[in-house]
Amino acid sequence: MIRIRGLHKSFGGLEVLKGIDLAVERGQVVCVIGPSGSGKSTLLRCVNLLEEPTSGSVTVGGAEVTDPDVDIDRVRRRIGMVFQAFNLFPHLTALENLTIAQRRVLRRDKAEAVRIGRDTLRRVGLTDKETAYPAQLSGGQQQRVAIARALAMDPDLMLFDEPTSALDPELVGDVLAVMRALADEGMTMLVVTHEMSFAREVADRVVFMDDGVIVEEGGPEQVVAAPRHPRTRAFLTRVLDPAAARVSEADGERPAGRP
Ligand SMILES: Nc1ncnc2c1ncn2[C@@H]1O[C@H](COP(=O)(O)OP(=O)(O)O)[C@@H](O)[C@H]1O
Ligand SMILES: [Mg+2]
Repeated sequence: MIRIRGLHKSFGGLEVLKGIDLAVERGQVVCVIGPSGSGKSTLLRCVNLLEEPTSGSVTVGGAEVTDPDVDIDRVRRRIGMVFQAFNLFPHLTALENLTIAQRRVLRRDKAEAVRIGRDTLRRVGLTDKETAYPAQLSGGQQQRVAIARALAMDPDLMLFDEPTSALDPELVGDVLAVMRALADEGMTMLVVTHEMSFAREVADRVVFMDDGVIVEEGGPEQVVAAPRHPRTRAFLTRVLDPAAARVSEADGERPAGRP
């Protein structure tokens, strides 16, 4: 579904992606983990050409998005994207947030857009919030509306960029539950996340990125539970037990080998 070969991306003199090769098969869930600034968002944004790669190729469902002749709007329509910030229209209700792109982009008539919108709100557990405005919803509910908005467009794959990072801890679970259900339904998903339990339980593969390269890649039982590379281990120690990582750094020890 996604095939990335030799992907490089620079911003001016700053090389952010330094040769990424990655494949996501149909129905797979691939989680990307790694420190802030390592290039995870840029990688995701290159998949739907929100950023233009400096070199290398990206194909999505067989269409080469890096081909100058590609109909990028057509490719983008098949890709749902969910960001850390929900980006809902504040002056529209939850249901209206779901119908607007269906009508404008997919040219669905109002009745169909509403039917699909309601159906999708049900899938994310928000049937009773149809008429609520974003300001009347919790962060977790807003993010579920954002996921529903993407799903209402019938995407072939979904990109998630730290979808739970802006949420209060007690609201994270509901969003992850929706994502887990999507994975169970067979959605192809590329997910940047710091939620290691999600990566461990849901991902088919986990990719650890650092400084613009993929350092380590494999099943979650390997990358998350028994990382081979010292940089992966150090990162996981920081993510899984920040207090302990600080203590061991203060002691001048290397971070513990296993998270
Ligand atoms: N549009 C941009 N212009 C200049 N630099 C950018 C831009 N987007 C990202 N960067 C830089 O690229 C690096 C990687 O950023 P990003 O992909 O957001 O990392 P991550 O998502 O892993 O935190 C950072 O140093 C960031 O400052
Ligand atoms: Mg990011």
